[in-house]
Amino acid sequence: MATLTFHGHAACTVRTDDGTCLVIDPFFDDNPASDVRAGDVHADYILVTHGHGDHLGDCVSIAKRTGATVISTVELVGFCSAKGVKRVHGMNIGGAHAFPFGRVKLTPAAHGGSVAGDDGTHTTPCAGILIEFDGRRFYHAGDTALIMDLQLLRGRVDVALLPIGDNFTMGPEDAARAVDMIEPRVVIPIHYSTWPIIQQDPEDFKRLVGDKALVEILAPGASWDF
Ligand code: NI
Ligand code: MN
Repeated sequence: MATLTFHGHAACTVRTDDGTCLVIDPFFDDNPASDVRAGDVHADYILVTHGHGDHLGDCVSIAKRTGATVISTVELVGFCSAKGVKRVHGMNIGGAHAFPFGRVKLTPAAHGGSVAGDDGTHTTPCAGILIEFDGRRFYHAGDTALIMDLQLLRGRVDVALLPIGDNFTMGPEDAARAVDMIEPRVVIPIHYSTWPIIQQDPEDFKRLVGDKALVEILAPGASWDF
């Protein structure tokens, strides 16, 4: 059994059948919605969609403490290496790689790409992250607008994490249209209500999705087995 735990905003952990711990977008200590502190997070791999502070978050400190491998775009793992992270794996959008826990593919997203705390020296576009492991297909959309590229994921995703906060990413209506495009079995809304600017009622999103997918609304700290 795999377990997804949502930690507020876009941060989540996935524990695979063999106990490998994947942390995605590790934004904890400055995340008003987080249920955990970065210093308490276990990680074998850290996957990061992009360099904005609410996604890169505590990546460097967690990677240094745990020895976890950081997986992201080549530019962003280069930034992490320069900050002292020992184990990194750089990829780029459209590329996939087989890791011991499963196969990771970076997928297109439309969003800005500056790196937090680096004065824009390192920039890279946001990616979505598609992970195939133990017969499951798990997709974290990162920060993205509604784009036609999402149609390429149709039939390839079982569980989709989609932003619904609006202002910086898709809002509920566009995220519901993304569900039409991707056709996941289960969709979990993320990237909302962390701050007033992205306040949303996930039940509105659930109504918009209707019976097109099962909408699992997870409060920060809640886990879901799949
Ligand atoms: Ni962002
Ligand atoms: Mn964001």
